[in-house]
Amino acid sequence: MSDRKTIRWGILGTARIATKVAEAINSTAGAEVAAVASRSAERAESWAEKHGIGRSYRSYQALLENDELDAIYVPLPPSMHAEWTIRAAEVGKHVICEKPIAMNATQAEEMAAACRENNVQLMDATMWVHHPRAADMLKPIQDGTLGELRRVTAAFGFVIDPYLQQKPPHMACDPDTGRVRLEEIVNHELRFQRQLGGGALLDTGWYCVRVALWAFGDLPRQVFANARYRHDVDINLSGLMWYDNDRVASFDCGYDLAVRKWFEIAGSKGSLVCDDFLNPWNPEKPRFWVHEETGKADERVSTASLQEQCMIENFCDIVRSDKLDPTWPTVSIANQRICDALDKSARSASVVDVV
Ligand SMILES: NC(=O)c1ccc[n+]([C@@H]2O[C@H](COP(=O)([O-])OP(=O)(O)OC[C@H]3O[C@@H](n4cnc5c(N)ncnc54)[C@H](OP(=O)(O)O)[C@@H]3O)[C@@H](O)[C@H]2O)c1
Repeated sequence: MSDRKTIRWGILGTARIATKVAEAINSTAGAEVAAVASRSAERAESWAEKHGIGRSYRSYQALLENDELDAIYVPLPPSMHAEWTIRAAEVGKHVICEKPIAMNATQAEEMAAACRENNVQLMDATMWVHHPRAADMLKPIQDGTLGELRRVTAAFGFVIDPYLQQKPPHMACDPDTGRVRLEEIVNHELRFQRQLGGGALLDTGWYCVRVALWAFGDLPRQVFANARYRHDVDINLSGLMWYDNDRVASFDCGYDLAVRKWFEIAGSKGSLVCDDFLNPWNPEKPRFWVHEETGKADERVSTASLQEQCMIENFCDIVRSDKLDPTWPTVSIANQRICDALDKSARSASVVDVV
């Protein structure tokens, strides 16, 4: 494949997050959204028109059969990630699948195997790791500046109500108030549906678990979690993860606190703090701090970038290179395995081994 090949994308579903990712694809050199599919022909058509997309399909499978597409973006509820990623792989399409990669690690492994067997790339859509700031932060973590790494602490969550009011096209509004009706939310919002893969751990805790994986580079031996449930999904969850070599990680995640999206990586000589790892508060100033033992705090600023675009660029480069990068599915499976253990721990009120 030449360096110049434009990667043509198809999107499955008219999800809220798909708007952001479609814009990122269309503003990335060498990438374009060529098709969208929805369970409803009408929604597919109007979404395609709104985003300037050439083709719309009334079924996900019909889109996958379009031979001109190279890659598929899967922003469906987590319960549908495995099926549609595997179907895409079987027709030779590369896949970015939204996080959480799946409902459990067994599914994640099946997805990775299907992609490997069909020679296509799989990546989950954890975006912050693609921002150049992530590589800048890894330097002091890995070059000894922080000393022996001992502790990761992270938090990610938000108050869910405003997000619910970014009306997904498949939910009805009350004509008098213009707001999504409560019963629509309880019955259709994927975050409140256990069978669709809802809950704060998979939605938000996923990212905190990735911070620990990214900083420590390995999996914990054991985990413990505690959660509050509504509609049988965790509205908030606190987790603890124990690692070899005296290392520990902890985090909290949920839907009931004003936005927090920070982490601290602490070692025997210093610590690194990022107060907005999910996405910089100020996109023009992606910052972090390295704190020394003396109390000196060194603020460092990375290159301003759109992380959605960075993810698409990195993915398209892999597709064009014709050489799959197995580290992406490997980290997705590890992320899912840890989340599986945390969920089991919270539901059983016991310490769980990570297997
Ligand atoms: N990476 C990120 O920064 C980020 C941010 C937000 C969300 N996410 C992830 O992206 C995924 C989608 O989240 P979202 O909030 O954007 O979802 P959403 O707005 O609820 O959209 C999900 C889409 O899936 C399709 N769908 C098919 N069967 C469905 C069902 N039974 N119930 C609901 N929808 C169904 C619908 O499209 P059609 O009706 O058009 O077929 C719907 O628009 C999740 O995995 C979430 O964790 C990632």
